[in-house]
Amino acid sequence: MKLLFIGDVVGSPGRDMLKEYLPKIKEKYRPHITVVNGENAAGGRGITEKIYREFLEWGAQAVTLGNHAWDNRDVFEFIGNAKYLVRPANFPAGTPGEGLKFLKWNQLEIAVINLQARTFMPSLDCPFIKADQLVREAKKRTPIIFVDFHGEATSEKQAIGWYLDGKVSAVVGTHTHVQTADDRILPNGTAYLTDVGMTGPYDGILGMEREAVIHRFLTSLPVRFEVPKSGRTIISAVIIDIDEKTGHSKKIERILINDDHPFYM
Ligand SMILES: [Fe+2]
Repeated sequence: MKLLFIGDVVGSPGRDMLKEYLPKIKEKYRPHITVVNGENAAGGRGITEKIYREFLEWGAQAVTLGNHAWDNRDVFEFIGNAKYLVRPANFPAGTPGEGLKFLKWNQLEIAVINLQARTFMPSLDCPFIKADQLVREAKKRTPIIFVDFHGEATSEKQAIGWYLDGKVSAVVGTHTHVQTADDRILPNGTAYLTDVGMTGPYDGILGMEREAVIHRFLTSLPVRFEVPKSGRTIISAVIIDIDEKTGHSKKIERILINDDHPFYM
C-alpha cells in the first residue's frame, strides 16, 4: 500500500496549494492513505476545526501536529473529538488529544504516530522511550506504522530513524520546512527522510515574510512573523510504498513542486 505524506502546511497559501495539488498528486502517485502535517495551517501557528475538516474533505485521512499544536485556542474545543488529529505523543501526561491513531484501509489498519524531538526544542518526555511504547501498542493491531517525527536537529532525526529501523514502516521528519535529499530505505526496511519540507509560501523564510525575519537577524528586536498573503508557493511531500504483510517499506520518493521543480503528470 502507498502512503502519501504532505509536509507542514503553512497558512492560507499552504492550504490553497494543498487544495489545488492534492488531487493532482493523488492522480499521479495513487496513494491509499494521505497524512498531512497541519501544525502551521492557521496563519502559520496552530490549527482550527474548520481547517482540520477541510483537510479531511480535500482527501487527507489524518492530520499530524508539532510544537505549534496549541497556538490556536480553537484546538482545545475539538481535539477531544477529532478522531484523525494526531499530536506529539510525548507531550506531558494529561495533555488533550492522542499521539497514536489508527486509520482503516480495506481490511488493514495503519498506525499513525506523531512524536516531537527535544534538541533545540522544549523539553518533553523522551521520544525514543515513547516510540517503543507506542510501537508495542500498534503492533498488536497492525505491522503498518507511520511516524512523523517533528524536530529541529538532523542528528536526533537520524537517531530515531535508525533506532526504529525494522520496527516501523517509515520515519519522516517535519518542522524545519526545508526538504532534505536523504530519502532511503534503511537496512531493516524502514523508509526514512530527515525532513519532508513545507507547503506554502516559496519566497519567504520558512514560510514567513522574509523582511521581518531579516530585520530580526539584523537588529535582534522582537518582530511578529506573518505568512505572506501573496506570491509564489511550494508543496513538499513524500510517497512511501509499504509491504502490507511485513510492514516494511519497498520504496520512498520525495515530491517537491514549485516554479523551480514544476509538476508534471
Ligand atoms: Fe514545528
